[in-house]
Amino acid sequence: MIIAVDGPAASGKGTLAAGLAQHYRLPCLDTGLLYRAVGRAVSGLEDAPDFEARAIAAAQNLKQDDIDPEALVSAGVGVLASKVAVIAGVRQALFDYQRDFAAQPGGAVLDGRDIGTVIAPHADVKLFIRTDSKVRMERRARQLEKRGEAVDRYALYHQIEERDARDMANPNGGFYKAEDAHLLDTTLLDIEASLRAAIAIVDGTMARK
Ligand code: DC
Repeated sequence: MIIAVDGPAASGKGTLAAGLAQHYRLPCLDTGLLYRAVGRAVSGLEDAPDFEARAIAAAQNLKQDDIDPEALVSAGVGVLASKVAVIAGVRQALFDYQRDFAAQPGGAVLDGRDIGTVIAPHADVKLFIRTDSKVRMERRARQLEKRGEAVDRYALYHQIEERDARDMANPNGGFYKAEDAHLLDTTLLDIEASLRAAIAIVDGTMARK
């Protein structure tokens, strides 16, 4: 069984995907980490004339060790990730790894922006997460504060809105709800309730197959 979880920045899709993976005993890939690792590799080079070429090279040479969630969680790296994610060559370089992960014999859970549309359009179950942007800002603020980062909520809100706009307008992206994706709005749901709702969708979809 392949489960695709797509949604905007700070929507809790990573936590949800991890919960689904645990529930169904499937391997899980947070594809945002790949873009974050590339973003981090070209940090400080945004104004370089060869920024795109460097980002593509970084994506092509990405190593497992570069994909360390702890080092990639910051809001700054998220912004860089959304900047490299508009480069077609970067997406192309990361495509095979994601598609191979999805094609594991036992199945997999993948979360990102384009899983249900581009990476695994044949996924058995597709979830498209929606969460009000102010709620996402507050959740992300608390997450960063827990890690000891100082948070400017006003700036964070605008950063999330800006990232949404860039991700959704990404001409090379694929960040939209696939026709056969189930919309799950978690604005009013905590983690447990979101996971219960997601499991109900997965079980219901598989039962109808
Ligand atoms: O989900 P996240 O915040 O970790 O993602 C970071 C950035 O990477 C996001 O702004 C857009 C990009 N991304 C993408 O374009 N496609 C994916 N499948 C996952 C992430």
